[in-house]
Amino acid sequence: MRILSIESSCDETAAAVVEDGRKVLSSVVYTQIEEHRKYGGVVPEIASRRHVEHMVDVVEEAIRQASMTKEELDAIAVTAAPGLIGAVLVGVNFAKGLALSLGKPLIPVHHIRGHVAANYLTHPELTPPFLCLIVSGGHSHIAQVLDYTHYHIIGRTRDDAAGEAFDKAARCLGFPYPGGVELDRISHEGDPHRYQLPTPKIDTPYDFSFSGLKTAVVNMTHNAQQKGETIDVKDMAASFCCKVTDILWGRFEKAAEDLGATSVALAGGVSANSWLRARAQERCAQKGWKLYLPELKLCGDNAAMIGSQAYYEFQAGNLAGMDLNGRPYMELDDHF
Ligand code: KG4
Ligand code: ZN
Repeated sequence: MRILSIESSCDETAAAVVEDGRKVLSSVVYTQIEEHRKYGGVVPEIASRRHVEHMVDVVEEAIRQASMTKEELDAIAVTAAPGLIGAVLVGVNFAKGLALSLGKPLIPVHHIRGHVAANYLTHPELTPPFLCLIVSGGHSHIAQVLDYTHYHIIGRTRDDAAGEAFDKAARCLGFPYPGGVELDRISHEGDPHRYQLPTPKIDTPYDFSFSGLKTAVVNMTHNAQQKGETIDVKDMAASFCCKVTDILWGRFEKAAEDLGATSVALAGGVSANSWLRARAQERCAQKGWKLYLPELKLCGDNAAMIGSQAYYEFQAGNLAGMDLNGRPYMELDDHF
């Protein structure tokens, strides 16, 4: 089964053709990052407008690269939640129009389920159940992936998402949006023990909190400025990456131990972070756990991951009609 998938929930206009949930026949991503960078973050209205402008080209290119015609597609899938609502609606409406005109099934996909499914593309042998640490610009969850379309969230962030914390800390240190990847890059030239950043105190075992960490970076930077001193950006980047990794992996490892999970995965934009990947690899090797990491190009937003998840949604009968609407928020275990 060959599914055309569309992703437009944030600042990437993306389309892909994926076969049977596992084989990427094409994947096209048009990123708007350069344009949003000058505003220090994604401007929702600009994102929507760029999706409108680029959607046709991106979809046509994905079909062309898959060496197919639109008539040969078996279904149309689209990210229908969560995300910037104006941006989501561009993809949803386009997918509806295409599905209607071609007479093909329409499959709505939860964006975060798509991030989890990026692992199915990277690891042909991976099947649920497994425990997943989902860390993106908008979400930080520890979720049991019970089967392809059922999840149980056992932990989540109480405030900022991990990616948001990276981007805010990076901005404070002078990096353009989205600074997470830059912070990661320069951190390897720094000393992770130079700055003492706080560990959040949370009374539940598997939840996260990152706002205190972000505030600590802001305060340390301002205090240094007031004293006429400067923060060593490389050391701060290393200290920050190390602390976020301690927090994320520490709680995830505890959850896996408590649940007896020996098959674990990372997902979402922050799963590209080299500190988190290295820690996961090191700890899983020590514990004898099987670790699944999405390949780097599938960590960030793309449509191939949506096409993978769509196959399993289709198998489960989770289709939509022409009354499908986009949603800005939606729980991972909720249904369209
Ligand atoms: O999953 P994603 O592409 O978009 C959302 O669904 O939110 O995640 C984007 C987030 C951004 O906050 C970005 O800074 C962060 O992932 N990110 C990283 C790295 N690469 C991307 N954060 C830390 N280290 C990285 N290497
Ligand atoms: Zn995402």
